[in-house]
Amino acid sequence: MANAREQGRDFDVRSCPSPAYVVDDALLRRNLELLGQVQARSGARILLALKGFAMWDTFPLVRQYLVGTTSSGQDEARLGAETFGGEVHCYSPAFTEEEMAVVLRYADHLSFNSPGQWRRFRETIAGAPRRVSCGMRVNPEHSTGSVPLYDPCAPGSRLGTRAADLTPEVMEGLEGLHFHTLCEQNSDDLESTLAAFEERFGHYLAGLKWVNFGGGHHITRADYDVERLVGVIRGFRERHPHLTVYLEPGEAIALNTGYLVCSVLDIVENDGPIAILDTSATAHMPDVLEMPYRPQIIGGGEPNEKAHTYRLGGMTCLAGDVIGDYSFDAPLQIGDRLVFTDMAHYTMVKTTTFNGIRLPSICRIDEASREVRTVRTFGYVDYMQRLS
Ligand SMILES: Cc1ncc(COP(=O)(O)O)c(C=O)c1O
Repeated sequence: MANAREQGRDFDVRSCPSPAYVVDDALLRRNLELLGQVQARSGARILLALKGFAMWDTFPLVRQYLVGTTSSGQDEARLGAETFGGEVHCYSPAFTEEEMAVVLRYADHLSFNSPGQWRRFRETIAGAPRRVSCGMRVNPEHSTGSVPLYDPCAPGSRLGTRAADLTPEVMEGLEGLHFHTLCEQNSDDLESTLAAFEERFGHYLAGLKWVNFGGGHHITRADYDVERLVGVIRGFRERHPHLTVYLEPGEAIALNTGYLVCSVLDIVENDGPIAILDTSATAHMPDVLEMPYRPQIIGGGEPNEKAHTYRLGGMTCLAGDVIGDYSFDAPLQIGDRLVFTDMAHYTMVKTTTFNGIRLPSICRIDEASREVRTVRTFGYVDYMQRLS
């Protein structure tokens, strides 16, 4: 029987393999309901950005609410077409000829990063068997984020064409504009970005069919101002009634919908107790080191907040494979299960098998019965096949 610390949110943490990503269908649906309301009220069409969340076993559920997927190249485009359906959008900083041939089999909307890429592929696209609606990703040169690593408007950015580099001649044959400038941001930042976008690119809008407002909208976060988002989109659509507006969030779909369940393998001592887990920051939750951020653990507190503080470390050789210092009401025991929260987005899509450590299993919690179903487990072959 799992002890109190091990109790997940209304599911049995012993009913999945360890380690495992466990996605709660009820929480996913809650996010999707909100996103569905945003679509209905604002008139925007919302796409799932596969780079953030691509657990395709859930797509029959996600598809009930969202109109399609957005991809970053051939494999995501194919996954979107084959497992999700609906609209398939694609944007990449640069396509190769070979990749474009594949993308054109699956995508119905393509955004280019530069006039050069559009010139290179416009003939191919004109001769493609299916009609593809093409657009240009632009850089509104309006930074709203605080971290340069996540700011496509930072000086020297390679992402998107600046207004000075766009001409009516380049725009010939294009039907849309795309901007993506936000990361985990609220609707006030979208509002100011949209103003900068319209100021710089507004004179092109009359001749277009769609505008894509990108991702980074943290719509399902508790303090997100949904009313403002709806108002901003509605205002834009009133000014440009002929345009279809797209949003393509990834994180907002899966925010706070899943866990990483893991186990304590050993406890060692070096200036305090260190628990070694059967998971890894670098291999299974790389944003903990890249963003960086501190994930929450159910029943775990800040260091020294509760009686027993541990450093939690991963099972790779990387000295810095450390998730952080956490405290617990009772001492940790070997075999205890720990549950990290908010582990559905930018985790499964970013894992590695560094050190040959196994990928976490993938599980789902049923909305009604709360039973945990293991969808996929990984083994030696998954590791071996990546390497030659
Ligand atoms: C072009 C583009 N669209 C959409 C997204 C999804 O962003 P998020 O998951 O932050 O909503 C990203 C993320 O980097 C992106 O680069």
